[in-house]
Amino acid sequence: MHKTLWTTLGALLVITLLLIPQAHTESVTKFVTKEDQIRDEMVKISRELGVTCAECHNVNNFTEAKKATFKVSREHMKITQLLKERGFDGKKGPEASCYMCHRGKLKPDYKEPLSAKAQ
Ligand code: HEC
Ligand code: HEC
Repeated sequence: MHKTLWTTLGALLVITLLLIPQAHTESVTKFVTKEDQIRDEMVKISRELGVTCAECHNVNNFTEAKKATFKVSREHMKITQLLKERGFDGKKGPEASCYMCHRGKLKPDYKEPLSAKAQ
């Protein structure tokens, strides 16, 4: 009985010791990955719209959310995300992106012809 208890405690100790450094490295990796992810995503959308960071950001304060382009982008990020969730996930066909509509331009070229609206 006692032997089992000690074995269990010993095993728990080993597991704990194994998990602690892992939990630590994991959180560090996550932090770095998140920063990297934001940067990659930002570079990507800039290219897809053919603009620089300053188009949407006050480059002295990236958390500021005043620019109209920033606000529109937030909405369009939601649209893009929604499209990804609704089948444009890149698995069987195209993956939704800013480029899908913007084609490297801040203002997409395509406008529905007036005649199409009238019908
Ligand atoms: C087309 C508009 C647009 C462009 C261009 C753009 N961003 Fe952003 N950025 C946004 C939006 C919108 C958010 C907020 C995203 C959210 O709320 O999830 C954001 C978020 C960020 C954040 C996170 C801010 C925070 O609150 O923590 C950083 C950092 C950032 N952008 C850096 C950049 C850099 C660097 C570039 C240029 C390489 C860039 N952005 C280009 C629209 C843009
Ligand atoms: C489903 C198509 C579509 C997708 C996807 C899309 N956009 Fe747009 N976006 C548009 C259209 C269309 C306009 C132009 C609206 C107009 O001319 O009034 C626009 C306008 C904008 C504008 C305003 C430009 C200006 O100054 O007038 C910004 C900024 C923008 N989009 C950012 C984004 C970002 C960032 C993404 C990707 C996260 C994105 N959009 C994805 C269709 C899209």
